[in-house]
Amino acid sequence: MAVTINTLRDYKQKGEAFAVLTAYDATFAHAVSEAGVDVILIGDSLGMVLQGHDSTLPVTMEQMAYHVRSVAAGNKGALVMADMPFMSYGTTESALTNAAELMRAGAHMVKLEGTDWMADTITALSERGIPVCAHLGLTPQFVNKFGGYKVQGREEHAAEQMIEHACMLERAGADVILLECVPAPLAARITQAVKAPVIGIGAGSDTDGQVLVLHDMLGVTPGRKPRFVKNFLAENGSIQGALEAYVNAVRQREFPGQEHTFEA
Ligand code: KIV
Ligand code: NA
Repeated sequence: MAVTINTLRDYKQKGEAFAVLTAYDATFAHAVSEAGVDVILIGDSLGMVLQGHDSTLPVTMEQMAYHVRSVAAGNKGALVMADMPFMSYGTTESALTNAAELMRAGAHMVKLEGTDWMADTITALSERGIPVCAHLGLTPQFVNKFGGYKVQGREEHAAEQMIEHACMLERAGADVILLECVPAPLAARITQAVKAPVIGIGAGSDTDGQVLVLHDMLGVTPGRKPRFVKNFLAENGSIQGALEAYVNAVRQREFPGQEHTFEA
């Protein structure tokens, strides 16, 4: 049966962890969904892993729509979540136009990076039938404001503010929250504070779901490996084996381990 937002809500209610992976093309969308991944994210990380840029900022709407169509064509029943690229939701009006394009391309949900300023935009999208995932914490489109890729929410004030923002964006209409690179205890508090399913990356093992970038978990991304990444291909010998091992490890809450987690 196809995964919907109701499936994710059921997982949260039952305390069952679910697995999310990025994919950018039909072949991997097929493999990832066949392995039991519940949500496929067409991440704007494609600007880094496919295009070789050092940030996600150069990714365009046209490129995102192309990859969403490719993934939708190969997908076997996963929920298709599409990133809205940098400055495609700078205003509510542009967000509506651009989100509609991604939905027509085959997305079931769009993901936006930001905080309280996105509330009205999220309400507008949600009221018009577009489910939204609100991405908080280390939001890579803000790398130039952060001055690098750094763990977010370490100070008490920033932590309290992130909890507030998550609750506020849920009230505004966000159906899913995604937390990137935040201390595990903070991610656990946010997961408890909202009814919406919470997906984590570098956010510890207490979130409702886990996500990784496909190329990272297959160990093919060049350069230094972030703390939260595990190479699942190394121990499993085949891509399909690696994908299935990831899904199992997430469901058993064996991944992420302490070594992949920021404790404070
Ligand atoms: O673009 C992406 O792949 C993402 C995940 C890392 C959450 O946003
Ligand atoms: Na992204």
